[in-house]
Amino acid sequence: MSPWRLSVAPMIDWTDRHCRFFHRLITQRALLYTEMVNAGAIVYGGTERHLRFNAEEHPVALQLGGSEPERLAQAARLGEQWGYDEINLNCGCPSERVQRGAFGACLMAEPQLVADGVKAMLDVVSVPVTVKHRIGIDKEESYAFVRDFLGTVADAGCRVFIVHARNAWLKGLSPKENREIPPLRYEVVYQLKRDFPQLTIALNGGVTTDEQIATHLQHVDGVMVGREAYHRPWLMREWDTRFLGAASALHTTPDEVEAAMVDYMAREAAAHGTPWYAIARHMLGLHHGRRGARLWRQVWSDHKLKTLPAHEVWAIAKAHLEEVPVEA
Ligand SMILES: Cc1cc2nc3c(=O)[nH]c(=O)nc-3n(C[C@H](O)[C@H](O)[C@H](O)COP(=O)(O)O)c2cc1C
Repeated sequence: MSPWRLSVAPMIDWTDRHCRFFHRLITQRALLYTEMVNAGAIVYGGTERHLRFNAEEHPVALQLGGSEPERLAQAARLGEQWGYDEINLNCGCPSERVQRGAFGACLMAEPQLVADGVKAMLDVVSVPVTVKHRIGIDKEESYAFVRDFLGTVADAGCRVFIVHARNAWLKGLSPKENREIPPLRYEVVYQLKRDFPQLTIALNGGVTTDEQIATHLQHVDGVMVGREAYHRPWLMREWDTRFLGAASALHTTPDEVEAAMVDYMAREAAAHGTPWYAIARHMLGLHHGRRGARLWRQVWSDHKLKTLPAHEVWAIAKAHLEEVPVEA
């Protein structure tokens, strides 16, 4: 089964190692992506700060931002040394800050530079090197544009493409608007799979239900889910059995996941001095749809409680929840 069949998207400020630890308690098999990490920050800054992760997170992919082949190669090599299972290059982020650094979605206008970066990384690592990109930039909506981008990068040896099925408009839209306003065109991604059957093509953008995942998997090799997995993580509860070949479910409940997270918070506090709220913020959608969830969420976001140990905050929070979980 393809490792890219189901994954959780890279999301800056969201999919940090705590978030990934949390997601791993709900799905054992989906591939998890880091936030985008600037290749230069890895090479010249705190390698440990940027690359440290929990062993439980595997399989986990490191997403790099950058465009300079030699620097990408250095960062990729460090990523492999730190144990990441894949190196992914961001060619889809539209933020102006990223554009100034000449990487992200604007790289789609420079397929040869991306190809050179991919090749430089492939030369120095043995884990897969993959690319995440859009279907076009600005008003460039021709299929030929994205087909030629993909073809050029594939010629450099990239075998896996994760395609966010909308254009990035580099001028005039915020990154958030760029995830909502340019229309989704799934048909373009399906067509890429038809034209490049030998490549692994995963689709991303706007997926919110298991039914949609099942539909897309009839056309492409994989589906990547971002915001919905973050805001409604219990969505992932059947992924292992329904899509990823697991014989049995984890037999876990949201309450058990929360208990495991509280243990993790205590371990993190003891080992690294991490405050519980840096971890708890990622699980605020856990009880989505359950009576009392709003009050529960307020407790876990209440910074006035930040001097309490996590298990005491937990006791206050869970008192608000109705006993039996209501299906989301
Ligand atoms: C808060 C946030 C941060 C994001 N950061 C990144 C990033 O670091 N790298 C990247 O390739 N995409 C990033 N994205 C885009 C997502 O990976 C994904 O492509 C996009 O949200 C569409 O998928 P979705 O509709 O399932 O959320 C981010 C999205 C959000 C909401």
